[in-house]
Amino acid sequence: MSTHMPAITSENTFLPFGDQRNAPFYGKDILSVKQFNRSDLDYIFGVAHEMRVMVERIGTFDLLKGKILANLFYEPSTRTSSSFTAAMERLGGSVIPINEVRYSSVSKGESLPDTVRTLECYADVIVLRHPDVGASKLAAQYARKPIINAGDGVGEHPTQALLDLLTIVEELHQVDGLSVTMLGDLKYGRTVHSLARLLSLYNVQLHYVSPEILRMPKEIIDEINKKGIQQKEHVDLDSALSETDVLYVTRVQKERFSALDEYERVKDAFVIDLDTMSRAKSRMIVMHPLPRVSEISIEVDADPRAAYFRQMEYGLYVRMALLAMVLGKS
Ligand code: CP
Repeated sequence: MSTHMPAITSENTFLPFGDQRNAPFYGKDILSVKQFNRSDLDYIFGVAHEMRVMVERIGTFDLLKGKILANLFYEPSTRTSSSFTAAMERLGGSVIPINEVRYSSVSKGESLPDTVRTLECYADVIVLRHPDVGASKLAAQYARKPIINAGDGVGEHPTQALLDLLTIVEELHQVDGLSVTMLGDLKYGRTVHSLARLLSLYNVQLHYVSPEILRMPKEIIDEINKKGIQQKEHVDLDSALSETDVLYVTRVQKERFSALDEYERVKDAFVIDLDTMSRAKSRMIVMHPLPRVSEISIEVDADPRAAYFRQMEYGLYVRMALLAMVLGKS
């Protein structure tokens, strides 16, 4: 496996984009992975692929010229915020950035419904990150324009799960039959909540490795059980590592703990290092939604199986696809 993203092959033909207001996602909100089926995912990944072709060929193009995105972030972000900005600008559109709500009228006590009703007067689509579970759903009840959930507290992060799944497809060329191990903070980690749900559309085995206090929530395990997916919880990685095809590592999120001593006790429970990699399959990938703190040692970065930096780039193409789709241009 290369440390670069897999190349676009000759079978990849460019399909011109156009106005497709009958397309399945035109005008729709993107709130949860629960709204997708496998054929939706094939469609999204097909559009994401075309976006990658276009970016690699010409960089920026005018598919969304004249369209405006409001990027409304109540929590910090580097990747989600900047990749949505880059996605809109690569498509010829522009962005209203509200990345620090304390400098907006939110600091004067403006409610989320009023804030989205304001922004939709100026923008065609709103990307929202908020600390409360269900905030995007609430915003969507008030907004006429599409809302894209960029993370709602410990709830979901659907666009991250889409880019995670695209990473698996592009890097391993399959999803069915894979053994996916999620490690770290599975309780508060919204990315693993969304990804586990999305993977349950496929024939996969899921392994969960976490400290006792950070186990995958029971309601998510129950939900996935109903789909007939094999799930197994572990207290250490060794019992799952040898059969792992995708090792999805997450950060223990200090900001979600009310008691700092609890965080200190579990923050370094699992560290992926060169020794871990020496015991892993030769054909596997390590993923991480990032940011990383200390859960993956930097020596691992040079291993071709470390896919987490490539993973970020797939996020650009997925977010370009989603913006084009909800605005009727895919
Ligand atoms: N993966 C992710 O959501 O990263 P940011 O918090 O930097 O957006």
